[in-house]
Amino acid sequence: MSKYSLGKQRVLSGVQPTGNLHLGNYLGAIRNWVASQSQYDNFFCVVDLHAITVPHNPATLAADTYSIAALYLACGIDLEYSTIFVQSHISAHSELAWLLNCITPLNWLERMIQFKEKALKQGENVSVGLLDYPVLMAADILLYDADQVPVGEDQKQHIELTRDIAIRINDQFGSKKKTVLKLPEPLIRKEGARVMSLTDGTRKMSKSDPSELSRINLLDSPEEIKKKIKRCKTDAVKGLEFDNPERPECNNLLTLYTLLSGKNKEEVAQECQDMGWGQFKPLLTETTIEALKPIQQKYQEVMEEKGYLESVLREGRQQAEAVANQTLSRVKAALGYSVPL
Ligand code: AMP
Ligand code: TRP
Repeated sequence: MSKYSLGKQRVLSGVQPTGNLHLGNYLGAIRNWVASQSQYDNFFCVVDLHAITVPHNPATLAADTYSIAALYLACGIDLEYSTIFVQSHISAHSELAWLLNCITPLNWLERMIQFKEKALKQGENVSVGLLDYPVLMAADILLYDADQVPVGEDQKQHIELTRDIAIRINDQFGSKKKTVLKLPEPLIRKEGARVMSLTDGTRKMSKSDPSELSRINLLDSPEEIKKKIKRCKTDAVKGLEFDNPERPECNNLLTLYTLLSGKNKEEVAQECQDMGWGQFKPLLTETTIEALKPIQQKYQEVMEEKGYLESVLREGRQQAEAVANQTLSRVKAALGYSVPL
């Protein structure tokens, strides 16, 4: 019997295998997937087709993809509730993306903030794939009839676009009685939804920031974590506080401490109100190292058992493909395609 037989709501989310996962990915996305997984039927994919929308290294793509899947397991994704799979293993993602492309107005994509930001960084070298990125993401979500999509704040616009695309398909090719696609909702937790850079508290922590000092990666050694926190940007004010717009770094570092220590905001506000940075930084360093230690240990275990990871992805593919192909057939039929004989 399928593990998905209880009629729970569906969740789908994914992360790109570009570089290491950082605390933003963990606190904004994966930690929340783990926390709520038992309430839902979950599909978590490694979105390796998205990874080539900017120039990529073919020599590391496959290994990076495995590494992210291993990190999903290491962070606590439980196969009892969740399916882990690789986007490129299921051709329905590319195929649905094509069908959606043909009904998505170009100017919807030109408006996307992430496209504009990334295109600016790419200069001359902007691919059609970068513009089309949100349509592929819509295909990822819509193929699984996802009810909820847990992501960080930066993905909200892409989920709104996904809804707009689904509404358009339903309007044009569905009927009142029979909708073609399900409308998903973004699931964005307030705390951790936007983890900021360690070198500039007004910019989000990002895989593409050229400075390694700007982010803490889940696989950083204790020495690296210590160095990065020691050198991170702070201010000259004594006493630490949340939510002071003049002190974005202070708010970010306190938020990291709150989430990684498992304490609540009020406790931390009180604990740190009289602290200086000299006292707080070692505390944050220790807390971060301790929080990441079990993830790193589990990651090593998973990576040492390559056969196990492969079997997880093989099974994941089977589970996911069955669902994805059904939706694809439904959309193709609605658009008027003949069924292959
Ligand atoms: P990406 O690194 O772009 O593949 O993002 C994967 C997931 O991490 C998405 O759900 C993002 O919204 C989330 N995410 C990425 N960066 C951050 C950040 N700085 N703060 C919070 N969430 C983030
Ligand atoms: N665009 C997302 C990001 O950069 C990654 C992604 C691709 C995704 N497909 C998805 C997230 C489907 C949620 C659901 O973070």
